[in-house]
Amino acid sequence: MNVLVTGATGFVGGRLVAALLAETDHEVTVLVRDADGYEPPGELTVVEGDVLEPGSFEPALEDVDVAFYLIHAMDASGDFAGRDRRAARNFERAATGAGLERVIYLSGLGSDVDELSAHLASRREVESVLADGAAEVTVLRAAIIVGDGSASFRLLTQLATRLPVMVTPRWIHTECQPIAIDDVVAYCLAVLERPETAGETYEIGGPDVLTYRELLIRTAEIVVGRRPLIVPVPVLSPRVSAYWVGLVTDVSPTVAYPLIDGLRNPVVVDDDRLKRLVGLEPTPFDVAVRRAAGLEVDGDAAETTVSGGRIAE
Ligand SMILES: NC(=O)c1ccc[n+]([C@@H]2O[C@H](COP(=O)([O-])OP(=O)(O)OC[C@H]3O[C@@H](n4cnc5c(N)ncnc54)[C@H](OP(=O)(O)O)[C@@H]3O)[C@@H](O)[C@H]2O)c1
Repeated sequence: MNVLVTGATGFVGGRLVAALLAETDHEVTVLVRDADGYEPPGELTVVEGDVLEPGSFEPALEDVDVAFYLIHAMDASGDFAGRDRRAARNFERAATGAGLERVIYLSGLGSDVDELSAHLASRREVESVLADGAAEVTVLRAAIIVGDGSASFRLLTQLATRLPVMVTPRWIHTECQPIAIDDVVAYCLAVLERPETAGETYEIGGPDVLTYRELLIRTAEIVVGRRPLIVPVPVLSPRVSAYWVGLVTDVSPTVAYPLIDGLRNPVVVDDDRLKRLVGLEPTPFDVAVRRAAGLEVDGDAAETTVSGGRIAE
């Protein structure tokens, strides 16, 4: 298969490209905005282009069978949802024009019955824009992805490890089901190899469902060996929280605000069809945190795959 990875310079895209090269025989093309600044991790085709500029990125889609859409514009200031909508529309049109069979999109977890935050609503909008095209779409919905380089995980780790005492809004009691980056990559490869997953939307998560409070405490205990004191307060707006987070962490307020606003939505897997289909043994949260922090994990020496997910024979 000829596989295109967009967002190849990003946290998920970078890991996925490495796994595709190490674990499959597919021809890999990457789309990047700055080819000079990109160091390919192996033999692949690099195409420079920007999905917000129609006409600039279409050569990346030539002869491609399946594309991973791993782009989002949250780190740019202003209207991220509008930019993500336009980017997805441009990509969907180009994919239709190029005759792609399938697009695989990594979206956000969260129940449609809840009032979704702007960030989660934007992920859903991108899902539906991509689905307007002729290519069949496979959607994987994930909550926080645990790994070195994930903006949302960096935000939580820095909060957990830099503050001995935290004043937090009510979202501290919201439930979340984080997933290890190794497992996300393993699921991406698994759906790529299974044509029957085309047109399906799947939820993916790790084995642990934790409140954000538990998530912060466990992360602090693992990374710095102490337990922060967390004091929930009844009112603290996401904008004030984002400002405050900007003072404590190196995550910019433009990225922090939509992420914090999203913390009010429970993000837990209801539908584990993909886990059952693939037979993946998900990575425990504590192990994922230790790997993300570069700490030793028992049994890692036996790891045989780049993606790390253990798929049942
Ligand atoms: N990280 C998480 O915890 C998490 C959780 C659930 C779902 N997801 C989803 O997973 C996907 C990937 O997330 P990530 O954490 O890997 O993001 P990331 O590290 O911020 O990477 C985003 C990528 O998008 C590229 N990009 C942005 N605008 C572009 C444009 N106009 N044209 C071409 N490329 C563009 C960036 O390229 P440049 O290097 O040029 O900026 C970068 O490679 C997103 O859809 C996200 O919503 C992530």
